[in-house]
Amino acid sequence: MKKILIIHGPNLNLLGEREINIYGSISLDEINARLTRIAKENNIELESFQSNHEGDIVDKIGKAKGHFNFIIINPAAYTHTSIAIADAIAAVEIPAIEVHLSNIYKREEFRHKSLIASSCIGQISGFGDNSYYLALRAIIDKIEK
Ligand code: DQA
Repeated sequence: MKKILIIHGPNLNLLGEREINIYGSISLDEINARLTRIAKENNIELESFQSNHEGDIVDKIGKAKGHFNFIIINPAAYTHTSIAIADAIAAVEIPAIEVHLSNIYKREEFRHKSLIASSCIGQISGFGDNSYYLALRAIIDKIEK
């Protein structure tokens, strides 16, 4: 059975109460529950991990090799700052998709640059919680092919 690791970066634990006009009113638990349901329907195992700490995310990715076939990551603010997370994804050579609820290219200029994207097979940005499900769909499609 294929295994997917979902990583949620800093402050995403506050989804549903944080800047609802930008990120929507859905909670992280609801997003994880829906991802788990879609994964189950497609015979995929899924683990979700959230951390507000860069090093914990780097550790989690570093230990993923041999355990996970794909990664879906919303690095949140670390998108724009973390060479360490980008390097970790490149190091484990697990195909990863970067996701964002908001369209980072439509927001402040400092959000226009992703340091993570070049370590990923693709990026989905701007579809609210749907960004996560679209990433999962893309992986399911890859697995089926
Ligand atoms: C985000 C976009 C980031 O710029 C921001 O720091 C976040 C969330 C998104 O999902 O839209 O925390 O990754």
